[in-house]
Formats: sequence, structure tokens, C-alpha cells
Amino acid sequence: MALMILWVLVRNGRVSCKVVLFIFGDSLIDVGNNNYLNGTLSKANFPWYGIDMGYGKPTGRFTNGRTVADIVGDKMGLPRPPAFLDPSSTTDVILKNGANYASGGGGILNETGDLFGQRLSFYRQIELFQGTREMIVRSIGSDEADVFFKSAQFVVAIGSNDFLNNFLLPIYGGFWTYNADEFINHLLETLEKQLIVLHSMGARQLTFIGLGPLGCIPLGRIMNLFGGYQEYVNNLVIKFNNAANQLLQGLSTHLSDSTMRFSDAYRMVLEIIDNPQKYGWGAILH
Ligand SMILES: *[C@@H]1O[C@H](CO)[C@@H](O)[C@H](O)[C@H]1NC(C)=O
Ligand SMILES: *[C@@H]1O[C@H](CO)[C@@H](O)[C@H](O)[C@H]1NC(C)=O
Repeated sequence: MALMILWVLVRNGRVSCKVVLFIFGDSLIDVGNNNYLNGTLSKANFPWYGIDMGYGKPTGRFTNGRTVADIVGDKMGLPRPPAFLDPSSTTDVILKNGANYASGGGGILNETGDLFGQRLSFYRQIELFQGTREMIVRSIGSDEADVFFKSAQFVVAIGSNDFLNNFLLPIYGGFWTYNADEFINHLLETLEKQLIVLHSMGARQLTFIGLGPLGCIPLGRIMNLFGGYQEYVNNLVIKFNNAANQLLQGLSTHLSDSTMRFSDAYRMVLEIIDNPQKYGWGAILH
């Protein structure tokens, strides 16, 4: 498997560059960036976050244990990238371990999640990555930096908040300005621009993790008077995911030298919800 090749020899053979992950997204894969933001309601720095990880202390992750990016990275044998805003994430650390720019509350659209206060939108995360890129070019030179970024794996998991904390809430422009199809098109057009910018900054191997069944999360179930899942929301997600899959395939064909994949989180999560026993959940989910 290509992903198992962890070391890439730089052309002149003088230096070997490690393969690292660069991660962009929202609370699903934030590893603590929001702890360094002052005015945000979106934090995971209190119990029982992190209870199943390390020493049972909050790690900044919005989960009891590892995020999906931790799990995938661990399986690939890649180091876990630290939160970019952590002051210890210096250029040397990023060269060894990559960086994670994900921020709880962030979205594809700039205004998404602003009810939480401060958070890093995808555009803002890309700007921060641009800063990283410049630091790395200064540190190892542009030829080596090119090789470093070409061999890096980029993971993007964002978009849930654009529905939950924008389109589906009547306090946002998105709710009033667009119908569902228009909103999804608007998201996809924005995402396309963002991924093209990342490619122009050197990203060549990128995986976009599609949205999960948002209509089945506890918030969605509470908002359903009948206590079930929200079919309307799940249908929006399916439309978005199908369009995102097409977008990634198109970009992979048109952008030079690139492999851009879509990962179908919806199908995977629904499979677990529908067959909990098979995945060791007993009847907990029912
Ligand atoms: C948070 O507040 C401190 C002190 O007011 C300030 O120095 C720092 O830059 C702020 N951080 C952010 C991310 O705005
Ligand atoms: C979104 O924010 C970025 C800065 O993070 C800015 O460059 C861009 O113009 C903004 N886009 C829109 C549509 O407001």
C-alpha cells in the first residue's frame, strides 16, 4: 500500500523527509486549537472529554477518546499532528509531526458557527497553513519543502456546522438566502475554491471526509417531535456528500499530479447505527 511508505528520499539523497498529516476541519477532529481561542463557547477543556485517553484528562478533543483523524493516522503509522495554535508547535515540530488546524464550530463558510464566538473557519485555517508553509520554506528551502508537502497527507473534515450552525438555523443568512439546492451549490463552489488554493500551496494527496448522518445525532433527535431521526437533514447530507464526491473526483483529474479522495463517513456511521452488535455496541444505541 502506498500509504505504508513512510519515508521519502529527497532527490539529492541528502535529507529524508518524513510523511506527516496536515489536518483541517471542525470539532470532529479539533485536538485543542479552541483552547487557545479566547472568546469561544466551543471548547472541550473540561470533564468528561478525554476520559478514555491518556490520563483521563481533557485533551481539547470533542470526544471521550481519539478523533477519527487520530484513528486513521494511527492505522497509517503517522505521527499525531499537534494543534497548530499550541505554542509548542514550532517549525521543527511541524516538520516531524505535521499540524492540525481544525477548530470546533468552524465551517466552509466564513460566517458559519459565529454564534460560538471565535473559531477558525476553513479559509482562516488555510491562511494559517500558508504561514506554516512560508516558515517551512525558510527553514529547509523551497525544493525540499516541495517534496515535503507533496508527500504529506492532507485530511479535510468540515461542513457539518455549515448545516447545523448556519443553514438549519433561522438566525443565519444561509437560512433566509438559499433554498437547499442553492445552499449546497454555494458550499460546493466555496469548497472547490478552497481545495484549489490548498493544491496551489502544494497539497497533492488529500482526503475529504464526507459528513455523517447529522439527522441522527442527539441534537437532531431532540429536534424531531417524534423522537426519531431527521430524514430531511440526512437527505441534505446525502446530497452534499454526493456532490462532494463528484467534486473530489473532478479535482483529482484536473489538478496536476494530485490524488483527491472522498471518504464516505455517512455510509460507515450508518452501518454502525444499523448494526450495533456487529461493532460491539450491544443494544446501547437503541
Ligand atoms: C487572547 O487574549 C490574550 C490577552 O488578552 C491576547 O494576548 C491573545 O492574543 C488572545 N488570543 C487570541 C487568539 O485572540
Ligand atoms: C473569508 O475570510 C477570508 C479570511 O479568512 C477572506 O480572505 C475571504 O475574502 C472571506 N470570504 C468571504 C466570501 O467573505
